[in-house]
Amino acid sequence: MRVLTIIPTFNELEALPVTVDRLRAAVPYSDVLIADDNSPDGTGDLADRMAAEDQNIHVMHRRGKEGLGAAYIAGFRWALERDYDVIVELDADGSHRPEDLPRLLAEVPEAHLVIGSRWVPGGSVVNWPLHRKLISRAGSFYSRTMLGLPVRDITAGFRAFRRETLEAIDFDAIESVGYGFQVDMTFRVARQGFTIAEVPITFVERELGVSKMSGNIVVEAVLNVTRWGLAARWKKLSAGTR
Ligand code: GDD
Ligand code: MN
Repeated sequence: MRVLTIIPTFNELEALPVTVDRLRAAVPYSDVLIADDNSPDGTGDLADRMAAEDQNIHVMHRRGKEGLGAAYIAGFRWALERDYDVIVELDADGSHRPEDLPRLLAEVPEAHLVIGSRWVPGGSVVNWPLHRKLISRAGSFYSRTMLGLPVRDITAGFRAFRRETLEAIDFDAIESVGYGFQVDMTFRVARQGFTIAEVPITFVERELGVSKMSGNIVVEAVLNVTRWGLAARWKKLSAGTR
């Protein structure tokens, strides 16, 4: 099983080396792709130095800050041009513990998408401010209701995809580039009739660097989920009346 872990970065100079060291120790057989959006803090140069010392580490330099979703999509395309069987999403800031990744990978034979979930029994968050917990919970509840998806942690960014799952997704059709990207991907995978498993993880708020979450990213996600949900309902209704 050839595994690639994609780590999107924007200004992660302090956190990135810590996370990559932990990942290489926890899952030594995973290659790493750092997808950096031309971070002003020099993350890209650091990534190049790391790649020069470790042939399993690769770097993608992108023009500028285009959002977490756009970075992942570029990473997915890069992975599918090579012979990886499993492609993993992992934050650079240590919020997703690399030590939990083996438990996600163990589920890949049973599911097309395995989500490291904060909101299933055994899942938890540490040091996350209340407002972020509320956004995540409300966002997941709203998305679950609007999209009819039985996924508890729909915005989660710790995931393992089978190759065939990503091959079935039309990346050109994905509009959201912020966190709504995670909801979009979940919705598209579910609409293919693929199986989605959730594995409990502990999400630890970052200690290094700052979150890129912003209000307009949340607004983008809510507006998109509403639009997708209404469109899916309309499609069901109009199919029912034919
Ligand atoms: N290349 C690139 N470009 N990377 C980005 C960008 C961007 O525009 N924006 C964020 N990132 C990277 C960060 O450097 C980090 O590695 C990861 O994406 C997550 O960014 P954070 O800013 O740490 O996200 P968060 O902790 O606020 O949000 C977490 O929770 C969300 C909601 O549950 C993340 O896990 C998200 O993936 C998740 O959807
Ligand atoms: Mn974070």
